[in-house]
Amino acid sequence: MRRKERIKQDIFRGVKEFYHLKHREQERRQGKIGYAGRVYDEKEIINLVDSALDFWLTAGRFAKRFEKNICAFLGARFSSLVNSGSSANLLAISALGSPKLGKRRLNPGDEIITTASCFPTTLAPIIQNGFTPVFLDVDLGTYNIQADKIEKAISKKTKAIFIAHTLGNPADLGRIAKIAAKYKLWFCEDNCDSLGAKYAGKFTGTFGHLSTLSFYPAHHITTGEGGAVLTGDPLLNRIINSLRDWGRDCWCDSGVDDTCKKRFSWKLGTLAFGYDHKYVYSHIGYNLKLTEMQAAVGLAQLKKLPEFIRKRNNNFRMLYQALESYQDALILPRWEKKAIPSWFAFPITVRPGAGFSRNELTDFLEKAGVQTRLIFAGNVLRQPAFKDIKCRVYAGLSNTDTIMNDSFFIGVYPGIGRAQIKYILKQFKTFFNSR
Ligand SMILES: Cc1ncc(COP(=O)(O)O)c(C=O)c1O
Repeated sequence: MRRKERIKQDIFRGVKEFYHLKHREQERRQGKIGYAGRVYDEKEIINLVDSALDFWLTAGRFAKRFEKNICAFLGARFSSLVNSGSSANLLAISALGSPKLGKRRLNPGDEIITTASCFPTTLAPIIQNGFTPVFLDVDLGTYNIQADKIEKAISKKTKAIFIAHTLGNPADLGRIAKIAAKYKLWFCEDNCDSLGAKYAGKFTGTFGHLSTLSFYPAHHITTGEGGAVLTGDPLLNRIINSLRDWGRDCWCDSGVDDTCKKRFSWKLGTLAFGYDHKYVYSHIGYNLKLTEMQAAVGLAQLKKLPEFIRKRNNNFRMLYQALESYQDALILPRWEKKAIPSWFAFPITVRPGAGFSRNELTDFLEKAGVQTRLIFAGNVLRQPAFKDIKCRVYAGLSNTDTIMNDSFFIGVYPGIGRAQIKYILKQFKTFFNSR
């Protein structure tokens, strides 16, 4: 035992040395100022190697701790790790159609209120499940749903609200949660871009019946690919895990048998009494599980999350303070009074009459080595894949179209330091001086 531990510690020491030789050097040589990126040190690699030495591979001790620590951080009851934020969204929406929900289940054709200014896989699962999206416009500056229109958009068929907190900026959760409760609607939060944001002192992702996270490298913490579904409801949690794990009824962890203590005494469907519960399927499911190696990285990342959020918000503040002087030409980010965002990025909209276009500004920044990104799909209804989908639009999408044409974002991620912020701001100054 001691020998194994000694070898392990030798390996970890070697990993640390390797990290400092290879990765730190690489960081110093970075050219562009990215909109996002992996921020890590030897601890993530050591965890990764530790999990490799276990060779458990599928979700195990690291995954259990990662799930537990996500819940502890956010104050959530259940979290289920999955292989991406898109998978998390797919599970959250698919869960609403589970027969286990009885009368509260969504049926094909039932409506879900959402936005057309979105990431495509917030919308995709609504369509994939045969539900009908109802699109509302978003506000410029917050890029979040116009919550004051939700109540008027509700029809007899409306059963749920599924919205994202755009780029780390909480939507009007007070109002949305109230409407969801009043009309007995399911409420799901796409919290993929907003880990660590708060509304009225409570973390986003803990307001809805279900919420989702993404751990893709652009996000607040990363596992490479990865995500999670969170809920406070034990039934929804069972449904999520069933859909994630092939649709099975059994809830044993990988490698464990007979958690229910009646593995061979169930009578379900028209199966014979005692058919092995491990092979009973209560959903038409998927396999969307995370691996142990990803969880090991996530666990180390999660420890850094408070510092990551602090740095992101600090970078945001420095950009905001300096860019305020260009407010005649640029719409700067806005947020709800009760919100403390956990900024994913710094969104900007070029005002009409600014004297230049969004593309002119982004071209300039890109050429200067400052990476820019558009606000995801723009107006998703204008995307080739989505232009003919069955949907309802309530009260027009004019701001959504503006975002498609005139908005973009730049990075605030923790890999950006004060010197890079200064450089970015210098580029804005040069651009404006040249006009
Ligand atoms: C709001 C939102 N939802 C979902 C996703 C999908 O996450 P993933 O890339 O992990 O599938 C993203 C991706 O960045 C996103 O921005």
